[in-house]
Amino acid sequence: VQAFADRAGRPPGLGIVLVGDDPASHVYVRNKVRSGSETGLFVDLVQLPADAPLDEVAKAVERMNASDRHDGILVQSPLPRALGADAARRIFDLIDPHKDVDGFTAENVGRLVQNRPGLLPCTPAGVMELLRREDVPLAGRRAVVVGRSEIVGKPMALLLLHRDATVTVCHSKTPELAAVCAEADVLVAAVGRAAFVTSAFVKPGATVIDVGINRVDREDEARRIWTDPARIDQLRAKGSLLVGDVHPSVREVAGALTPVPGGVGPLTIAMLLSNTLTAGRRRLGDVG
Ligand code: GUN
Repeated sequence: VQAFADRAGRPPGLGIVLVGDDPASHVYVRNKVRSGSETGLFVDLVQLPADAPLDEVAKAVERMNASDRHDGILVQSPLPRALGADAARRIFDLIDPHKDVDGFTAENVGRLVQNRPGLLPCTPAGVMELLRREDVPLAGRRAVVVGRSEIVGKPMALLLLHRDATVTVCHSKTPELAAVCAEADVLVAAVGRAAFVTSAFVKPGATVIDVGINRVDREDEARRIWTDPARIDQLRAKGSLLVGDVHPSVREVAGALTPVPGGVGPLTIAMLLSNTLTAGRRRLGDVG
């Protein structure tokens, strides 16, 4: 970031558009703003009310597209329901692909499919970085991705495929789900269901990546997840607890397991900052 600022005469810039009052989105965006600022980025947060018309959201994106100070643009999803079912697609389509630090535009998705340089979605890119740094072998290994979302499941499968893994994508209609998952050397859980992936889904020694962040507020559900009575006390004190898509007991079977919180979440933010710097450097003509 310092080298960029010295060369460009300004820090890398990240524009964030947050519409409405979804509590989880507010937490995510607060963390993105804080990490970006701490890293020395210029962070421009535009907050719009839940009843803002689509035009106004579009205007915020177009202002950032035209700006020299904004290298990256992120529109936090989900957008309010009132904007209509296709609002996110329509807004993402407006983002300049060179500034699309979420990797959600058709241009960047196409580049990912063809394994050409572009901007990669932050969560799957972060998972690949983690697997690389931990020297987890992928070529010829079985990788199973549970979940087929545009944000995680689909791009995750493609990135693993590009590293020569044999990839299976599972979803809500997959029969014998546990048995399919139990074949995985690398299992990525991205379903958005609390502690859904139990030991029965995991081959002993497998690497398990937990992408989920779920809030548990019911005591009976908490008892299914945690045996430690201290956890139930915590739930009573705090009103809710966080758990991933992976049941905590998987720790005893897996060779490696990412924690929730403190695993893929912070990694995603790190990749957002990294993408912003990459986008800025490309705009300066630094890298290909
Ligand atoms: N909502 C949940 N995850 C994400 C993300 O990675 N990017 C954006 N823009 N919105 C999200």
